Amino acid sequence: MDLIQEINKLKKEKNAIILTHCYQNVEIDEVSDFVGDSLYLSQQASKTNADIILFAGVYFMAQSAKLLSPNKKVLLPNMNSGCIMADMIDVENLKIFKNQHPNIPVVCYINSTAEVKAHCDICCTSSNAVKVVRELGAKKILFVPDTYLGTYVQSKLPEVEVITFNGFCPTHLRIRIQDMELARKNHPNALILAHPECHQEVAKLADFVGSTKEIMEFAKKSDKKEFVIATEKGVVDRLNRDSKKENWNKTFILINENIVCPNMKKNNLENIYETLLTEQNEITIDPSVAQKATECIERMLKL
Ligand code: 13P
Ligand code: SF4
Repeated sequence: MDLIQEINKLKKEKNAIILTHCYQNVEIDEVSDFVGDSLYLSQQASKTNADIILFAGVYFMAQSAKLLSPNKKVLLPNMNSGCIMADMIDVENLKIFKNQHPNIPVVCYINSTAEVKAHCDICCTSSNAVKVVRELGAKKILFVPDTYLGTYVQSKLPEVEVITFNGFCPTHLRIRIQDMELARKNHPNALILAHPECHQEVAKLADFVGSTKEIMEFAKKSDKKEFVIATEKGVVDRLNRDSKKENWNKTFILINENIVCPNMKKNNLENIYETLLTEQNEITIDPSVAQKATECIERMLKL
């Protein structure tokens, strides 16, 4: 069976769209309507007229799409594709963190559950974290769950005190200082582009720090021909594919072959087809959580 053809047929029949994060297996792009980073995909989820959204990403992303499109059916091909960082904080330890630092606004990274979002003031993604915190105008903020994105925001906004929760992304933390030094030595003409989820000592050694989409845009526009990418493999696969297809003559090298998010890779054409066909794996959100969590995301989208 030609899975790509069958998936596209089902999409038409069911008025469905597929939103795909750029850490997904690259062949999923063949059936996707939108491919991008978390911010871009949540914007698309809030705008679509489709009846079904299939989210090729991890659990919190599908949950965010459901919050922004409550009347649509949102499907996730593998219900076990959670984000390890998002699962590092729950409502109980968020409350403890807030009690330790009372009366301070809480900014939460979109990599968090709907339950956690419902107890936070505003959401952000890695593309807009600095902007969100700046526009909040507070002297002090709490930042959850990613300590490294929070530290990155702090480095850009010295006028704000950013108190971070101690979550982290295990995939990005696999990038070590030695990898950066080795990349400089082995690829002296390359620029190194890193995601702000990397450890701050690693991010400091990069030529550019940005979200997945910012990294891809930077690489496309740059005059340079060689790049070492310090984020998930999916970004490198898409950049090399586009370079070949559009004759950019550029080479993209993954900083270290282990930078693969295991949960992002749980989706594939087979389980996308199966999910669209059966309409199983539907995301539902407890109504007691939904309103507050949606407000948290919508405050960000309004900015
Ligand atoms: P982006 O906000 O860059 O899409 O990143 C999401 C993510 O999970 C990074 O690990
Ligand atoms: Fe979560 Fe890290 Fe995977 Fe992104 S790369 S989804 S932060 S575990």
